[in-house]
Amino acid sequence: MPSGVSVRETVHVLVISELDSAQVAVVDRHLPLNRLDQTGDESTYLVGWVNGRPVAHARIAWSGTHLGLPEIQDMFVASDYRRRGIATALTVAAEAKARARGWAAMSLSVSQDKNPAARSMYNRRGYSAADAAPVPVSGLITLRGQTVEVDDTLIYMVKAL
Ligand SMILES: CC(C)(COP(=O)(O)OP(=O)(O)OC[C@H]1O[C@@H](n2cnc3c(N)ncnc32)[C@H](O)[C@@H]1OP(=O)(O)O)[C@@H](O)C(=O)NCCC(=O)NCCS
Repeated sequence: MPSGVSVRETVHVLVISELDSAQVAVVDRHLPLNRLDQTGDESTYLVGWVNGRPVAHARIAWSGTHLGLPEIQDMFVASDYRRRGIATALTVAAEAKARARGWAAMSLSVSQDKNPAARSMYNRRGYSAADAAPVPVSGLITLRGQTVEVDDTLIYMVKAL
């Protein structure tokens, strides 16, 4: 570097790790963890960290899924960290975990017409429509103790690993 030139850079490195019970409180302060209370299946939450702050998560359900394949659920990236490839990186990490367990395909569901951002992200990652009928979901559901009204249609997508 030429003398007299000073460069200050902030390096943002994304670290992805499995959520452990000791981290739940801090992640919960920043992110929704919508399916944390869900029981009846085996699952793994992946959390994306930048400079010690949890900025994104995704859940992998390993059992009890609609298509009988591992399913990515509850993908969420903090609004100030979007469009930086973080959801894509979490998807790549989830796929690697599924491959390591011997699975040959990954699945997920996405709103048929209310979430073009997520559909676009998954399309770019190689997901395409599964051979399964769209699933209408409507009524009241409970997420983390809060009642939420939903009115949507989900389509299932798959990708060979
Ligand atoms: C959808 C969501 C997970 C995307 O996360 P992200 O980290 O911003 O996604 P990425 O940066 O990996 O995006 C990869 C590609 O997907 C597409 N994409 C992502 N967000 C998009 C948007 N808002 N509009 C259009 N395309 C979008 C783009 O092609 C993008 O590539 P580019 O930035 O080079 O153009 C994020 O917006 C989010 O958390 N939304 C709220 C929760 C949600 O909808 N979860 C998904 C439920 S199925």
